[in-house]
Amino acid sequence: MRKPLMAGNWKMHKNAAETVRFFEAFAPMIARAEHADVVICPPFVNLSAAAYAARSTRIEIGAQDVFWLTEGAYTGEVSAPMLAAIGCRWVIIGHSERRQYFGETDDTVSKKAAAAVEAGLKPIVCVGERLEERESNATETVLSAQFTQGIAPLTPDQFAKITIAYEPVWAIGTGKTATPEIAEAAHHFLRARIRDRFGEEAAGACRILYGGSVKPENTKTLMAQPDIDGALVGGASLDPAAFASIVNFS
Ligand code: PGA
Repeated sequence: MRKPLMAGNWKMHKNAAETVRFFEAFAPMIARAEHADVVICPPFVNLSAAAYAARSTRIEIGAQDVFWLTEGAYTGEVSAPMLAAIGCRWVIIGHSERRQYFGETDDTVSKKAAAAVEAGLKPIVCVGERLEERESNATETVLSAQFTQGIAPLTPDQFAKITIAYEPVWAIGTGKTATPEIAEAAHHFLRARIRDRFGEEAAGACRILYGGSVKPENTKTLMAQPDIDGALVGGASLDPAAFASIVNFS
């Protein structure tokens, strides 16, 4: 019922020439992968090059952040209509690295998600607990708060456009993937929060991605879980063959 979505988050990697080379190699490898939606999120400066390289392929392009106002005196920021105008279709919002290093809060996440939807972009909103929170049994409290303050303020129409990514911070870039059971429990919990706030239909329709050390070797068992609808992939999305094998997991 929910089509898998495989999204690559390149973080601060690859220049313009490397971006073009990636698409040349990657596009043919996933040309027949009709079972999944495929998104690549390069740094802002390479979004145009990526959108051009991905034209007439199945790959859609996303940004890694966005500001919530449309224009103005906000040095260094990029607005949602600007992203839409260069062919960007998706945007990652509230990634744990933005929360940890750049002052992102649930309040800014919610504003950014609403602004992205207004501009026709599809937000991938990230939530997830830190190691000390998991170890002190606070995972559900943390996810609940991120959901209540960052996602629940959206209107039902805005919510219908978003994808959620559950990314336990202790699994990002560490090589420590959450076990399929740990990931499934968190996804199941989040889907119940969606049901409480937006109803049964919205809970059934919303894709929840898992992120945190997803690799070709662990994709299939993660994807076998009933509430895991795709992956947000960092490191392994930088290599065309590795990311293609994640997309072609089945
Ligand atoms: P990783 O990153 O796959 O390198 O762990 C995932 C992410 O941060 O989205």
